[in-house]
Amino acid sequence: MSQDPFDFRPDPDRYAVMGDPIDHSLSPRIHTLFAEQTGQALTYEAIQVDQGGLAQALGNFGASGGRGANITVPLKERAYALADELSDRARLAGAVNTLTLADGRLIADNTDGAGLVADLTENLGWPLAGASILLVGAGGAARGVIAPLLEAGPARLLVVNRTPDRARELADHFRHLGLVEGGGLAAAQGPFDIIINATAASLAAEVPDLPAEAIGEQTRVYDMMYGAEPTAFLGWAAARGAAELADGLGMLVGQAAESFRIWRGVRPDAAAVLATLRQELISGG
Ligand SMILES: NC(=O)c1ccc[n+]([C@@H]2O[C@H](COP(=O)([O-])OP(=O)(O)OC[C@H]3O[C@@H](n4cnc5c(N)ncnc54)[C@H](OP(=O)(O)O)[C@@H]3O)[C@@H](O)[C@H]2O)c1
Repeated sequence: MSQDPFDFRPDPDRYAVMGDPIDHSLSPRIHTLFAEQTGQALTYEAIQVDQGGLAQALGNFGASGGRGANITVPLKERAYALADELSDRARLAGAVNTLTLADGRLIADNTDGAGLVADLTENLGWPLAGASILLVGAGGAARGVIAPLLEAGPARLLVVNRTPDRARELADHFRHLGLVEGGGLAAAQGPFDIIINATAASLAAEVPDLPAEAIGEQTRVYDMMYGAEPTAFLGWAAARGAAELADGLGMLVGQAAESFRIWRGVRPDAAAVLATLRQELISGG
């Protein structure tokens, strides 16, 4: 609230990320940098919310002036169920990471796939059109990126997963959009142009049991996970002679940039914020 009676500037709009755990979320830092960069008056906070508490948390946040929220693990499917309006990409993904709060209604979108594609094509310069792409994993993250990847026109998209049926189900779900197949990890006979790790294996410093032939000397390898050090998956790919490696920090900034554009109508310079964040991650600050 404004304290000075002669200060007639409105309070800044409120935004938040909701999830559990949420302490280490980089989203408040990213959106603060976007706001500074674009001159937008807003605040962005992290709110711990468990599975059962999302409806209540969103109601409270909206009542206290909240304008929008990012939704992260493990609440993306719950947010999908609560939404009053779904964008096409949220409906296809079956999950929501961006909510706009307007007149008591929840308008939902999913920007994860756009964030990944922007990172691959704009930041990294990895062409997707005509490429053979291997997507490893069949959880929420994989589901959110298949439609935007197919939209980019790859020659082939193969989804493989430790539990093969989940990958086959995903391929069936998206087949009307393009050439996508599903199978077990052993089906990843390459070499592929691009491999994207969308499993949670790197969280436990594990590597999915892929055939060595998945990687050739032209293969570019992406891990959706990120950190100050290269992930286990990127270490595995480097040891097999992958041509280029990238982690998921750029995807995180990319999905945030698309949320910011939806909320504020301004597209921030994601590459500049990514460079700042990378520096902070490496220096531990
Ligand atoms: N950079 C970003 O912006 C961004 C955005 C979203 C997600 N992510 C990251 O993406 C990852 C996946 O997230 P999610 O939401 O999809 O998780 P999820 O829904 O829990 O799915 C987990 C997936 O990982 C597989 N998996 C887990 N441990 C494995 C192991 N040891 N070996 C092989 N496969 C394993 C699972 O296979 P089964 O089906 O066989 O269990 C499943 O396919 C997380 O690391 C998350 O941090 C990053």
